[in-house]
Amino acid sequence: MYRLLFTQVLARFDAEAVHHLTVRAFRVLALLPLLKGLIHRSLAPRDPALRIKAFGVHFPGPLGLAAGFDKDAGCVPALAALGFGFVEVGTITAHAQPGNARPRLFRLVRDRAIVNRMGFNNAGAHAAAARLRRPRGLPAVVGVNIGKTKVVPESEAVADYVTCAKELAPLADYLVVNVSSPNTPGLRDLQTAGKLRPLLTEVKQVAAATTRRTPLLVKIAPDLADDDIDAIADLAVELELDGIIATNTTIERPPGVHVPPGAETGGLSGRPLKDRSLRVLRRLRARVGDRITLVSVGGVEDVDDVWERLLAGASLVQGYTGWIYGGPFWAARIHRQLARRLRRHGVKSVQDVIGRTAA
Ligand SMILES: Cc1cc2nc3c(=O)[nH]c(=O)nc-3n(C[C@H](O)[C@H](O)[C@H](O)COP(=O)(O)O)c2cc1C
Repeated sequence: MYRLLFTQVLARFDAEAVHHLTVRAFRVLALLPLLKGLIHRSLAPRDPALRIKAFGVHFPGPLGLAAGFDKDAGCVPALAALGFGFVEVGTITAHAQPGNARPRLFRLVRDRAIVNRMGFNNAGAHAAAARLRRPRGLPAVVGVNIGKTKVVPESEAVADYVTCAKELAPLADYLVVNVSSPNTPGLRDLQTAGKLRPLLTEVKQVAAATTRRTPLLVKIAPDLADDDIDAIADLAVELELDGIIATNTTIERPPGVHVPPGAETGGLSGRPLKDRSLRVLRRLRARVGDRITLVSVGGVEDVDDVWERLLAGASLVQGYTGWIYGGPFWAARIHRQLARRLRRHGVKSVQDVIGRTAA
């Protein structure tokens, strides 16, 4: 049904226009307590077997929405009601910025993929903080993903992240330093251990100073060389970060992917990213074991993918493109199927399958 609606109706309209319309609809839903409550009651994960505790935070289910959909933290309650175990908002930058020129969002329907080069379009940390302070009316775990303001030079990047973190860390269940989006010039250069160390050290001080001692994670690209992945993993352990999110979108265009005109540059997400994302997860797990939490994202489409990531060592899993192609009930469906699978395997809690197939 949703597939038909997607291919026959939604796919005919400009991708970004559909996105903004959807966000607006979710914002309205977020303001309607009765309907929101009804949807929450039928779709939000409530099976105790799905509950998971990671970096001190209790999640009702392991599958969350990845960063990039709710860039301005405008519709968290609606997204939580739809069945996500948590919602990562952002990327939010210290200062408001318009992002890159349009078109900047492309659907690759045959490949069940997306290319985006949005460039952190958002209303800035102050506006997001005001939204995050609003009462939500229902429980929701919210991660806040922060990035560098485009006009800020690399030499001032640390101060820029710190400004953003000061505003948002007190309002987040966890904070993410995003150094991996391909659409802000020079951002991914911050992934070298030499540049990452001062950045993460300072942001961690801010996160640790909040009353809740906000957990801090770093989000990495899938295009890193193996040695760089290992170096970041070692650094994360050394700095006692709470976790690593892997991965962001790829700048690669794997063979066989049908790239539409205009989508040659930008980050590719969805099915073509699946194998690479899983490989990065396995490498991280082999390096860090269970010393820090791993969050796996990239090409997750169904319950089999979620299961595979959990077994490979991810405590939490995220999706974005899979949801766009899978429809509004995607997360609720996967959580339901996951609970059934746990029961079939005689496992009491999702917590017990994490890392089972890891080296
Ligand atoms: C349209 C779009 C916008 C995105 N924006 C962000 C962003 O602002 N910050 C970020 O960390 N990741 C962003 N991402 C990356 C996703 O969070 C995720 O890491 C990536 O898409 C891989 O997951 P997927 O294959 O499930 O989509 C974006 C992805 C898409 C498709």
